Amino acid sequence: MNNKFYITTPIYYPSAEFHIGHCYTTIIADAIARYKRLAGYDVFFQTGTDEHGLKIENKAKEKGVTPKEYVDKIIADAKDLWEQLGISYDFFIRTTDEFHVKRVQEIFKKLYDKGDIYKGEYQGLYCVPCESFWTSSQLIDGKCPDCGREVGLVKEEAYFFKLSKYQQKLEEFYEKNPDFILPVSRRNEMLNNFIRPGLEDLCVSRTSFTWGIPVSFDEKHVIYVWIDALTNYITSLGYPDNDELFKKYWPADLHLVGKEIVRFHTIIWPAILMALDIPLPKQVFGHGWLIIDGGKISKSKGNYKDPREYINAYGVDAVRYFALREVPFGSDGNFSEKALITRTNADLCNILGNLVSRTIQMGIKYFSGNIKNKKVTESIDIDLIDTKNRLKSEVDQKMRELKINEALEIIFELLRKCNKYIDDTTPWILAKDETKLNRLETIIYNLLDAILVSTTLLQAFIPSTSEKIFASLNINKRDFNNIYDEVEVFALGNEKPANLFERIKED
Ligand code: MSP
Repeated sequence: MNNKFYITTPIYYPSAEFHIGHCYTTIIADAIARYKRLAGYDVFFQTGTDEHGLKIENKAKEKGVTPKEYVDKIIADAKDLWEQLGISYDFFIRTTDEFHVKRVQEIFKKLYDKGDIYKGEYQGLYCVPCESFWTSSQLIDGKCPDCGREVGLVKEEAYFFKLSKYQQKLEEFYEKNPDFILPVSRRNEMLNNFIRPGLEDLCVSRTSFTWGIPVSFDEKHVIYVWIDALTNYITSLGYPDNDELFKKYWPADLHLVGKEIVRFHTIIWPAILMALDIPLPKQVFGHGWLIIDGGKISKSKGNYKDPREYINAYGVDAVRYFALREVPFGSDGNFSEKALITRTNADLCNILGNLVSRTIQMGIKYFSGNIKNKKVTESIDIDLIDTKNRLKSEVDQKMRELKINEALEIIFELLRKCNKYIDDTTPWILAKDETKLNRLETIIYNLLDAILVSTTLLQAFIPSTSEKIFASLNINKRDFNNIYDEVEVFALGNEKPANLFERIKED
């Protein structure tokens, strides 16, 4: 059985410190990677940084440091952020890594030798901050359609990649692989707005800046961003000179990308791979953006805080949970500190935290922490038990469809039911009646059992909270293989459980 799973985030520009938008993609990738690991897959989860280009060269100049010094500092900071967020990446690639530089040069040469890269002259409208060339019809009010800033006319000798040659092959590939791009709306957009109207050859080198990977056989050219950046997904695996990891993990199972770079990942990247004669990734998911007050998260607007401030104030899992739960994956969604607080209080504190602490305290108080299933079952139990028994396969289904927020919604639906079950069965009244103790023990057992199954799933999403719950249950961590193994006796011990989430003041 081939049970590997290779998942990637985009490699981020280290032009400024990372914000909650970068965290968004990375947290989601992390949750998917963890979920697959729990399911027994051999996962390779990669993230990293895209460090070359004029924008970074200019930023470094402004600061009076070399580009490498400039990015080194931001990357150290990014790695610290990922650690604090519990991002379980297997590999962090930097486009300045020596192996990457060498392999990109080899790839470029390969494409040149094959005739898929040729020398020509480039003339175009260029947006410096976005490092993008635009045709005049793509401009909005004469300005860059992405950032709204001025573009300038640039003319230079350059190398081109024969993208046009792959138009038909791409269309055929799209036909044969309807799930290649998700959500479907983005697939249609690529086909109708870009591929079918015709693909132009793509400029893949520059002479206007030097902070990049030189073309090995023509050193005044540096390899322009897309061949340098997109190939990160294969150079990390050793392509083209070392095929051990490459054989094991390629093709990628899932590239997660923001909607603005879907085009690069679903047109340019597949065409490069076709030219290299290697298989295409299985799926590209184009997600929406987190926006603040209806606009982009932006350093210049100063409309965001360092994500660590939220982690310090509300806990890592509040931030993770928000990113995973708040916005339907694929759509844009609003981020605000207020929304983060509301979500944390409503779900993590009132539903999850409350349930775990109530249940464990009852277990300790009524049964000194030892709870067996006395099997005094009543009809009110059936819905709870059925929901719990269905939970794993329902969450699996949602995760297969990458409906991450819905996966969490289902888990929290069970937790909500548990809270209602407590209210309906009134354990504190049963506890007063000697003859009802077996019934009471069954109720607490059912609750602990539902908490255990939920926690096993929640590990992928909110790992540090899940760890605390396993500790309170006094049970070893489980994975999906033994998620439904029966517990004979819950032996909780006698220690009052630590509060998982404090209620946050909402003003
Ligand atoms: N370097 C390129 C990607 C090359 S991949 C071979 C790039 N970098 S980026 O830093 O500008 O953005 C990378 C990704 O960050 C976006 O695609 C998106 O996944 C994520 N996000 C940046 N801001 C975001 C939001 N406000 N909301 C959600 N995701 C955001 O493009």
